[in-house]
Amino acid sequence: MKALIIYHSQQHGNTGMMAEAVAEGFGNGATIWNTNEKRFDVTKVPDYDCIAVGTPDYFSYMAGTLKTFMDDIYIAERNGVEGISGKPVGLFLSHGGGGKAKEPFEKLFSRLGDVVGETVESSGAPGHKTLDACKALGRTLAARVK
Ligand SMILES: Cc1cc2nc3c(=O)[nH]c(=O)nc-3n(C[C@H](O)[C@H](O)[C@H](O)COP(=O)(O)O)c2cc1C
Repeated sequence: MKALIIYHSQQHGNTGMMAEAVAEGFGNGATIWNTNEKRFDVTKVPDYDCIAVGTPDYFSYMAGTLKTFMDDIYIAERNGVEGISGKPVGLFLSHGGGGKAKEPFEKLFSRLGDVVGETVESSGAPGHKTLDACKALGRTLAARVK
């Protein structure tokens, strides 16, 4: 059972903390990947059973590196790579009090598969309640792929 937990985190590490909590909830088999550090090779997505995606709100949109992730997926699928989309997807978002990125983020990443539950949202640094919701998201994904 493998989960890809892919996110962009840069400014304060807020989205990264959420990603760690999702991974903890999922348990063994979770890979976390910060697209701010390295681009993800989307031809490896078929190796995973489910995906969680987390973004900070940047100018009321998702981080550019996650948009690139989806662009890469579109191109890979057009080039015949199979087994990328159609998996359970979990979403989480970190913002500074605005959070308008939620709508375009959910819209774009619903292309990737079946979105499970609600997007976990954090305003500023994630507190215990938010981190618990991230862990619950990880557990939900694990239950969906068992
Ligand atoms: C370039 C940039 C643009 C941002 N734009 C918004 C915004 O439009 N709305 C908002 O609520 N927060 C905005 N923020 C705040 C971040 O979403 C917030 O600090 C987030 O928690 C950062 O996540 P990170 O620590 O994982 O990088 C912006 C931050 C940066 C650096």
